[in-house]
Amino acid sequence: MIKSSLKKGKIMITDRQLKEKWFKFFEKHGFKKIEGFSIIPENDPTVLFTTAGMHPLVPYLLGEKHPAGDKIYDVQRCIRTSDIDSVGDGSHLTFFEMLGNWTLGKCDKKEMIKLSFEFLTSPEYLGLDKNRLAVTVFAGNDVAPKDEEAFQAWKECGIKEIFFTSQDNWWALGGGVGPCGPDSEMFYDTGKEKCGKDCSPSCDCGKYLEIWNDVFMQYVVKKAGERAQKLERPNIDTGMGLERTVAILNGAKSVYDSGCLKRVIDFINQNATVKYDDGEAATRSYRIITDHLRSSTFILGDARGVVPSNVGQGYILRRFIRRAVNCSRNIGFNSDLFADIVDIYVDEYGQDYQDIKQNRQFIKDELLKEVAKFSKAIEEGHKEFNKVISGIERHKEFASKTGEKVENVISGKSAFRLYDTFGFPLELTEELAKERGYQVDREGFENMFKEHQEKSRQATAGMFKGGLADTSKQSAHLHTATHLLLAALQHFYGKNVVQKGSNITPERLRFDFNLDHKMTAEEIKAVENFVNDAIKKEIPVTCQVMSLEQAKESGAHGTFTNKYGEEVKVYSIGEVSKEICGGPHAENTKELHHFKIIKEESSSSGIRRIKAVLD
Ligand code: ALA
Repeated sequence: MIKSSLKKGKIMITDRQLKEKWFKFFEKHGFKKIEGFSIIPENDPTVLFTTAGMHPLVPYLLGEKHPAGDKIYDVQRCIRTSDIDSVGDGSHLTFFEMLGNWTLGKCDKKEMIKLSFEFLTSPEYLGLDKNRLAVTVFAGNDVAPKDEEAFQAWKECGIKEIFFTSQDNWWALGGGVGPCGPDSEMFYDTGKEKCGKDCSPSCDCGKYLEIWNDVFMQYVVKKAGERAQKLERPNIDTGMGLERTVAILNGAKSVYDSGCLKRVIDFINQNATVKYDDGEAATRSYRIITDHLRSSTFILGDARGVVPSNVGQGYILRRFIRRAVNCSRNIGFNSDLFADIVDIYVDEYGQDYQDIKQNRQFIKDELLKEVAKFSKAIEEGHKEFNKVISGIERHKEFASKTGEKVENVISGKSAFRLYDTFGFPLELTEELAKERGYQVDREGFENMFKEHQEKSRQATAGMFKGGLADTSKQSAHLHTATHLLLAALQHFYGKNVVQKGSNITPERLRFDFNLDHKMTAEEIKAVENFVNDAIKKEIPVTCQVMSLEQAKESGAHGTFTNKYGEEVKVYSIGEVSKEICGGPHAENTKELHHFKIIKEESSSSGIRRIKAVLD
């Protein structure tokens, strides 16, 4: 990836050292450190995983006050499934750590660009050669004008390679709804030859590697397709990719060639029959296993606990694990050794992510359970897959005599059978098909899927509907209802009942909690009545900022992922409920109108799940 003048092979900076430089730099400039969040978003229906440091901060970017003030920074664990097909090259990962910093309520572009430049080039921090940096700036379009201010600021820093784009320099949340604005991305010139006269950071040929993005969040899109409006309180949101930056600083060939990822690659190399350097396909398989098992470790180990399933995050997790098993087959690597790879990751990350450390055994058990399940099916599945291909080949041979044209397409029905009977995720069938020069009838598969699993599949699709910004009112109301629901459950079953998961879409709330039995119809009614009584009493919802210790002393509930000494927000609903929570909420319970439980079911062993609506 990188032709570097730095000494190859020698580890010159570790992940930790880069984090420490980030902390030191932003402390010096008056920013306050906050803790990163879980990788499983809470109360946000728009994404399955936390995709950037800004994601859990959306309420603050939309105007809620942050208890740590208006200049903050952190390290955030992120998962981006959108990059899954690029994993295997030198720089794409599904899991990565993002170094982030934010200025809330103010957007001083020039100052942020100067800070970025200083961090990148100052010998005390990254010491990168400014002549190997390139930046991109928003070119302007119908939505917003050219970012002249950013251009001038980079020019003053002495950056020579400044490129303009409109599409690649507009930052928005998935679905395009929510806070957004022009951004300015920073790239490192890897030293590769230009791929042509139009070579630029946009062309993805590998010459320019993106390492940092400054987003100037000056706008908000309230409804998909609508024009952006000026945000009353603009913000700056920046994110630096930790793994890529460390790779550059170490002069490594790829993100897999330094630090912890390299240790995993080396471990596989010692135990597989096909070696890491035995051609492109082998290298790709090694990298996919390495990346996907890190993502799986973080998903399984997260305090919000997700296990493989056929919906939502569980489906993605299943896909990661099964794809890793498949790649292991390609290189003659025994999937039972996945447990050893989990150990490498937990040893590396346990210090920063306590949940991963605490759940070490759980991660290994669940991972190996899924491997065993899949391995059993996979032999049969591969046979079935080969049968499907030979069937089409025979058909083609026959058709060549009659002049009929047969395409290299696996039908939706066959793909669904592979999925349903042999546990092959569609993407795996597509990958195997591609290797043989075939395509899969995706639409046909999806129709079959809908027919057979209408309910569960739609639940996943629903995750992507709507957005926080256009539905913030409904979401806030359901959020307040969630607090009342927990209060009701604790009233009837005792204080040992706690939240095990929460998810809010514009239409409903979903709440997981510990309880050892199925709720009876009477119990459900009683809980509904408790919540509806609080709604009828028209209780104001109030918020106070205090230290975590004061919050605990005051009897506030919370999952306490926060650290000692940190300032937190405590939301109270009269005497009924008191919880540590980021908000936002209704101002008064009367806004909730009426609460109704539409489903009570088992979520996993000892955990019940309630779905409820406000009507
Ligand atoms: N949120 C910005 C990004 O993900 C920094 O690029």
